[in-house]
Amino acid sequence: MGSNPGAAFSARLLTWYDQYGRQDLPWRQTTDPYRVWLSEIMLQQTQVQTVIPYYLEFLVRFPSIEALAGASQDQVLACWSGLGYYARARNLHGAAAQIVAEHGGQFPRTFDQVLALRGIGRSTAGAILSICFGQPQPILDGNVKRVLARYYGVTGWPGSPAVARELWRHAESTTPAERSGDYTQAIMDFGATLCGRRNPDCDRCPVADSCRAYIGGQVDQLPEPRPKKVRRLRQVRWLLLRDESGAILLEQRPQKGIWGGLWSPPELESDRRLAGCSELQTLCHEFTHVTWVIKPLLVECQRASVAGLNPTDRLRRWVHPRGVGEIGLPAPVVRLLGELPARVLV
Ligand code: ADE
Repeated sequence: MGSNPGAAFSARLLTWYDQYGRQDLPWRQTTDPYRVWLSEIMLQQTQVQTVIPYYLEFLVRFPSIEALAGASQDQVLACWSGLGYYARARNLHGAAAQIVAEHGGQFPRTFDQVLALRGIGRSTAGAILSICFGQPQPILDGNVKRVLARYYGVTGWPGSPAVARELWRHAESTTPAERSGDYTQAIMDFGATLCGRRNPDCDRCPVADSCRAYIGGQVDQLPEPRPKKVRRLRQVRWLLLRDESGAILLEQRPQKGIWGGLWSPPELESDRRLAGCSELQTLCHEFTHVTWVIKPLLVECQRASVAGLNPTDRLRRWVHPRGVGEIGLPAPVVRLLGELPARVLV
């Protein structure tokens, strides 16, 4: 197997992948860079099982880079509704326009060109170039960080620059010159299944006998977690105005900031109670650094009487809870619209 420990590691992982890898995932049936790119972006912060239906539907709606570049942002965000981390969708859309403008609609093939696309970092560029074009580029997503931290016994939080640098060195030394695309998929699958965060299955692991964490009894301690920081709480009140036809008023959120470009009910600034409103059940939504505690207030109204209320430069539209279709909605808005109490007719 040679004396290079990185080569021994990758050779064993490839053998494992040939037998146990998830070859049936939809994005494994292709080396088309548009499809692989889309899968990598969707999989960045979302589990495989959640991604699959979104991935298939997205490709039906936008079957090519040109189709994606030619769509409106609302159409793209609508297809992303419920998947979360919407900057991914805005960047994907922006990068499609870049590819059309700068590369004649052909996905670029050099590392620097791919890295220059919106929303693509070093690891995603490596994944696309290895899977689609067989270039021996390393990757280092969350799963791979965990695998390498355990195998090489790397302490410290992988999000810190010094630890990340060390892990990138290991990622480079383990990436083989041959079958690099399969190796990329192999180490991601290995991290997502056998070497998962909880309950790693070391008994079946093909590299346990040379894994530092396994040998040292530290598998449960590596990688080390992010140093604890208390998440801030933010109280948010949403005004759900419902008109005589049952439609709800939504506003488009500013491009910069949480849920940029998506649609949500107007936020109320003051804590004043409103006459004639009913308080619905509070929702909590966790972001990376802050938790929103959302109090929805439902008010039945006449559409005509709302027209000039609280002018804002945001776009507004009335939507029917069951026919939202063409616009992007954050998950709590989808939930809220699906669970509205029936109208009380007065
Ligand atoms: N996570 C990130 N990319 C992936 C891929 N191509 N297959 C499975 N899981 C992944």
